[in-house]
Amino acid sequence: MESLLSKLDLNSLPKHISIIMDGNGRWAKKHNKPRVFGHRNGVKAVREVTEASAELGIKYLTLYAFSKENWRRPKAEVNTLMKLFVKTVSEELNTLNENNIKLEAIGDLSSLPEETYKALMKGMQSTRNNDRMTLILALNYSSRWEITKMVRLISEKVRAKSVDIEDIDHQLVTSHLETNKYPDPELMIRTSGEHRISNFLLWQLSYAELVFTDTLWPDFRKENLYKCLLEYQRRERRFGMTGEQLVKS
Ligand code: FPP
Repeated sequence: MESLLSKLDLNSLPKHISIIMDGNGRWAKKHNKPRVFGHRNGVKAVREVTEASAELGIKYLTLYAFSKENWRRPKAEVNTLMKLFVKTVSEELNTLNENNIKLEAIGDLSSLPEETYKALMKGMQSTRNNDRMTLILALNYSSRWEITKMVRLISEKVRAKSVDIEDIDHQLVTSHLETNKYPDPELMIRTSGEHRISNFLLWQLSYAELVFTDTLWPDFRKENLYKCLLEYQRRERRFGMTGEQLVKS
């Protein structure tokens, strides 16, 4: 059987993929285990998808790891997740460096627990010169928080008279978002059968293809990513034409 990878057009891959990793809790439930078991197994999927993306030459991969709304979860689950971030970032540092992958993060990082913040800063510092791919963790992130922060930043500049109101355009807005160093994702994947954006990159996903899969995040493997990319390419190949025009050509 022809592999999914060989069906991919390597010349029309997205530069930036963003993923809402969902379904860890349901995966754990299915296995009669506590929710944190799902998160721990979610790390395997993070590893696979990072590796597959780097192999394909994707330049940016953004993973929604913890939203501002996630603080509402039971305290024990939040604590375990925060520790899991520390452990994962520390354990994966060598692999990231060996594979020339830069670690970065977006979100309200300074409000993270000190231990998590420190591990993240250490990871970012140690991988800062890598340039094959940038792995961006959205941590304590939400789009409305980011957009509100952007409005405040620009308003401050207006008050200080370094920006004229007439000069506020979409480029200025983009340059005041957390993601100002990255191109917009062309593809957003959400696992676990939920069809929502959940406060994730609302501005940046304006033109992205949204691909939803029923696979629960801990089961997501390279083949699942290839399937999503094939779906993306199937849609992209319309080149702005209608489906009918494509059938004729
Ligand atoms: C959503 O599933 C998952 C999360 C909120 C946490 C994701 C974190 C990881 C996979 C750990 C990765 C570690 C790093 C360093 C990136 P859910 O709990 O909402 O699942 P449910 O909808 O089935 O309850």
